[in-house]
Amino acid sequence: MAIRLGDTAPDFTAESTEGTIRFHEYLGDSWGVLFSHPKDFTPVCTTELGTVAKLKDEFAKRNVKVIGLSVDPVSDHKEWAKDIAETQGVALNFPLIGDPDRAVADLYDMIHPNALNTLTVRSVFVIGPDKQVKLTLTYPAATGRNFDELLRVIDSLQLTAYQKVATPANWQDGDDVIIVPSLSNEQAKELFPAGWNELKPYLRVTKQPSKKSSAS
Ligand code: BEZ
Repeated sequence: MAIRLGDTAPDFTAESTEGTIRFHEYLGDSWGVLFSHPKDFTPVCTTELGTVAKLKDEFAKRNVKVIGLSVDPVSDHKEWAKDIAETQGVALNFPLIGDPDRAVADLYDMIHPNALNTLTVRSVFVIGPDKQVKLTLTYPAATGRNFDELLRVIDSLQLTAYQKVATPANWQDGDDVIIVPSLSNEQAKELFPAGWNELKPYLRVTKQPSKKSSAS
């Protein structure tokens, strides 16, 4: 069954390029990104994994642990990692799960038979420290993902998890935000003493409050 926002991310134990992963235990109190790619030794996937490796510090800054996955075995991942280092100029620096029996792929519904018969599509799951699924994305094989967008979304998730705000279209960390409509003006005065710009009663724009805790 498809995984929905707010579901508890299914736990699993699997082999990876960094040894056995017990998923929930591995995540600990961190945020997590579990993402699948269709196949080792393929061009778009090679660029994607290099891009994620280059963003290691950005994910670490946000207290996010990243884990990749495909239905290839760990032995293939390790061979392919040499090509990633050679062509992308960065070593693989996060675990890649080998899932040849598709146990995790099936658990997370990462195989979409009408798109790719036996391979995982480009799925992304962002998981909060409470182990709940906060965001899902699905891209087809021919379209590489924008991992800057993933960081932007994580910034929004980490802000809106702790503050009574929502982030508007194309928002970037530091931009103005929207006070959630469920908050009355009386309540908003307490939380946003510097005030807001009321474009409509339901559209109140204010300065971005600080994230409660980047480690939360
Ligand atoms: C790729 O990564 O380039 C790719 C993988 C599977 C199917 C098509 C493209």
